[in-house]
Amino acid sequence: MDQKELLVLKDVKKSYSSLSVLKGINLTFQQGEFISIVGKSGCGKSTLLRIIAGLEAAGGGRIMMNGSELQSLNEAARIMFQDGRLLPWKKILQNIGLGLSGDWREKALEALRSVGLEDRAHQYPSSLSGGQKQRVALARALVHEPQLLLLDEPLGALDALTRLEMQRLIEAIWQKNRLTTILVTHDVEEAVMLSDRVIVLKDGNVAVDQVIEMPRPRQRANPAFTKYSEEILAEIMGTRSARGTVLVALSH
Ligand SMILES: Nc1ncnc2c1ncn2[C@@H]1O[C@H](COP(=O)(O)OP(=O)(O)O)[C@@H](O)[C@H]1O
Ligand SMILES: [Mg+2]
Repeated sequence: MDQKELLVLKDVKKSYSSLSVLKGINLTFQQGEFISIVGKSGCGKSTLLRIIAGLEAAGGGRIMMNGSELQSLNEAARIMFQDGRLLPWKKILQNIGLGLSGDWREKALEALRSVGLEDRAHQYPSSLSGGQKQRVALARALVHEPQLLLLDEPLGALDALTRLEMQRLIEAIWQKNRLTTILVTHDVEEAVMLSDRVIVLKDGNVAVDQVIEMPRPRQRANPAFTKYSEEILAEIMGTRSARGTVLVALSH
């Protein structure tokens, strides 16, 4: 496959006063990849995503986007958070069109269509369920046609069924557009279900960069699915033995 480096992190560091959160992250993301970042709460996942988005400056190292060093906001990236951050006083179409000009209505409608909610264009966000709000938030990111989609636990607040639906939608959108996607999640199975690579952050470093080799659409019943999930979880929890066998299979 023709691969092109979209994003390269070189020795990226970040501290908050005496707390060293990222201690020198080196990662390369190819165009079109779906990557998940997992790790314990507080390990620096959101910090890393904010730095990639250019919302926050790194304390050291370099971030190369399309071969150029990122200096401020990453214009080619869009980020979506766990709380959709929709403006309650604006209608859904207007929420999606924020920051667009020209034929923004057509573009916003198209984005809304891609998440299956075009019939809700003229309603207010308060009329939507949690899952639908996240669809709108996703449409609001997609309408800018980003090269890089950053998702910070976007499904964290959803119930299990809605979560599965949203996972399928995110995978379908990624496959259709081949949009490089970085998903931060605390759900290892979600990461294994969706990703080409799963990265485990631990103690400020990349502890694991695991390629997931499974055909799509992926099935939970596939033994490889369980094996990947258990191994990655064991890495996060520190229950992997020196010989590499999983000592404890934790579920959640
Ligand atoms: N703006 C900030 N000021 C001070 N400490 C912060 C700030 N943002 C994050 N932290 C700390 O950095 C660590 C990593 O946070 P975060 O990236 O949000 O972790 P994660 O997303 O993996 O749960 C945590 O200990 C958190 O308290
Ligand atoms: Mg976080």
